[in-house]
Amino acid sequence: MNSTRKAQIMAEVRRLHRENATDEFVPGVTPILSSGAVLDEDDRVALAESAIELRIAAGVAARKFESAFARTLGLRKAHLTNSGSSANLLALSALTSPQLDDLRLRPGDEVVTVAAGFPTTVNPIIQNGLTPVFVDVELGTYNTTAERIEAAIGPRTRAIMIAHALGNPYPAEEVAQLAEDRGLFVVEDNCDAVGSLHKGRLTGTFGDVSTVSFYPAHHITMGEGGCVLTANLALARIVESMRDWGRDCWCEPGEDNTCLKRFAYQLGDLPEGYDHKYIFSHVGYNLKSTDLQASLGLSQLRKLPEFGAARRRNWQRLRAGLADVPGLLLPEPTAGSDPSWFGFAITVRSDAPYTRRELVDFLESRRIGTRRLFGGNLTRHPAYRDREHRVAGQLTNSDIITDRTFWVGVYPGITAEMIDYVAQSIREFAARRRAAAPPRPSAPVPAPQL
Ligand SMILES: Cc1ncc(COP(=O)(O)O)c(C=O)c1O
Repeated sequence: MNSTRKAQIMAEVRRLHRENATDEFVPGVTPILSSGAVLDEDDRVALAESAIELRIAAGVAARKFESAFARTLGLRKAHLTNSGSSANLLALSALTSPQLDDLRLRPGDEVVTVAAGFPTTVNPIIQNGLTPVFVDVELGTYNTTAERIEAAIGPRTRAIMIAHALGNPYPAEEVAQLAEDRGLFVVEDNCDAVGSLHKGRLTGTFGDVSTVSFYPAHHITMGEGGCVLTANLALARIVESMRDWGRDCWCEPGEDNTCLKRFAYQLGDLPEGYDHKYIFSHVGYNLKSTDLQASLGLSQLRKLPEFGAARRRNWQRLRAGLADVPGLLLPEPTAGSDPSWFGFAITVRSDAPYTRRELVDFLESRRIGTRRLFGGNLTRHPAYRDREHRVAGQLTNSDIITDRTFWVGVYPGITAEMIDYVAQSIREFAARRRAAAPPRPSAPVPAPQL
């Protein structure tokens, strides 16, 4: 390709990007999204460059991203996937591999997870013929505790698969210790928490295997995309095999015979010398991504620290702006955590003179985007009602979340001015409702019920 011509096109792409940049905020008119991609001219150029070079399948950018991202987390291997949900499917499926011998998860084994969360943290458990064991979470942190997990462990429990809630780490160190003591695998769904710290250590590094999503709502984006990470090279090989159709061969597409014995294997009941490229050691999938996605990922990865700083700044500003609003339970970081927040969760207390629905409707009328804490109590959804599962303890808080929790955005596309408008809107709404509420009994007022 003519490099001068390419440079001219890229300069034109940059100009185009600048021409379309608008950042005026009009309160009540400009939407304040709960989440979204923040894409600059470098991102646009990265995408355009891989497009004009016709790098349409996974190639050099995918390899580069995988090593750069593994380095960012201090792990040995990262494998790109086409989504965070695929990453979760792959991570848990890898633990069912016959190559793990007696350690492998088998149908009917149990995996502890939380009831209030995202469905595709749970679905791989069911998709692999395993049984989810649901535990409750705490209000405020929206995470479960090691005690709750421990109480849920039964004779067939073999793994723990939990997400860090809205960027707030679950007590990852304690959970990892518990897993080690009880011989359980940990699949750490880090889709909403890239860059979060727990006890000074990055989330995504505590589990045997961890996952990330690169959908636009997440900390960095590729449009669609995800990743499976691990420090365990044997597990990484299984992940790669299952991602790439289940094949035994590890040559990149377009490469041949990197092991120098492509025609010298005898595996299964196949004839001696059957082409290793077409020997399948797992019942796999094709969950690969493309170079277009990886090119954008590389460009976004450079901005991860500044994105994380913006998320933290926005969250702190909103937390301070809402500190004394009556009727709301505000979010708290889990002890020992420094979250790179995904969102700002609010639970409307049962004694508030308004409902979640009323508050959410008011915010949406001001073009302030709101979201539920994903599925709330997942066991109440039609999808899970008739699926084999176990509930450990009560799911009281998951039900409260279903009925009274929502979240607003803190992503880097949200400015301080927008945060102040969100805080002011919530304060204004609560003050109006308070003024309109009937007078309270004068004495003695019981502690508010959540
Ligand atoms: C905790 C969690 N896990 C997994 C996923 C799935 O990611 P994806 O949308 O890339 O499939 C999400 C999506 O938002 C999520 O929040």
